[in-house]
Amino acid sequence: MKRKPFVCGNWKLNHNLAATNELIDQIIVGLPANDNVDVAIAPVATVLFSAGAKAKGSKLQIAAQNVFYESQGAFTGEWSVQHLLELGCRYSIVGHSERRQYFHETNESVAHKTKACFAGGLIPIVCVGESLAQREQGQTQNILLEQLTPVLDVLVPENIPQLILAYEPIWAIGTGKSALATEAEEVHSYLRGLLVAQFGSSLAEQARIIYGGSVKAENTTELMNQKNVDGLLVGGASLTAGSFLAIVKECLKRLT
Ligand code: PGA
Repeated sequence: MKRKPFVCGNWKLNHNLAATNELIDQIIVGLPANDNVDVAIAPVATVLFSAGAKAKGSKLQIAAQNVFYESQGAFTGEWSVQHLLELGCRYSIVGHSERRQYFHETNESVAHKTKACFAGGLIPIVCVGESLAQREQGQTQNILLEQLTPVLDVLVPENIPQLILAYEPIWAIGTGKSALATEAEEVHSYLRGLLVAQFGSSLAEQARIIYGGSVKAENTTELMNQKNVDGLLVGGASLTAGSFLAIVKECLKRLT
């Protein structure tokens, strides 16, 4: 099945307001005129208001890097799905490995966040991925199953066509050492199999499974030509318009 590629730039803790505004202008001008690819950026939370306003009416969509699962109350420092929708966000990254590592997110909190996103009308980009040690011990599938099981438990069939899963092997993030396209495909097809087992193939075939970890224009085509690689989550190479747009353009050459 042909799924529309989804490319999201994850800016992490980079770019102030002025730089964000400038970069958004450059990206919008350079986006392909056709609708054959969905493109989003996830800037720092404090600039989302401005980013949402700038992107309004353009082909560029806005994602948050994180969201909390409660909608209101005594949760100092958090923001909800509703707050993000108000700013013009369409997506939120959920469970990035940096949040799991530095901010103690658990498989359960990732599941709560995923559920809250769907309940409130925001599309979650749910991240999973193994460490190098886990891969070397042959634990990749077990780890992914552990990470994904609580998420699968909160999903309902209606969520699946919109779901975006991001496979981000931790050893490939920010290291310059991307997974081989064949390694990515092996994992993506495993992840799709988990969706098929729970929701059946006609729904599972609609979910987008994207890859992240040292993506650049040079490895985009090979990754995107894999059957189950439906897009990319891009960190470092999304920080300048030129390198990000080059990736977006490569995605349009997808064969499958
Ligand atoms: P990277 O980051 O492209 O810089 O490896 C990817 C990510 O963490 O989403």
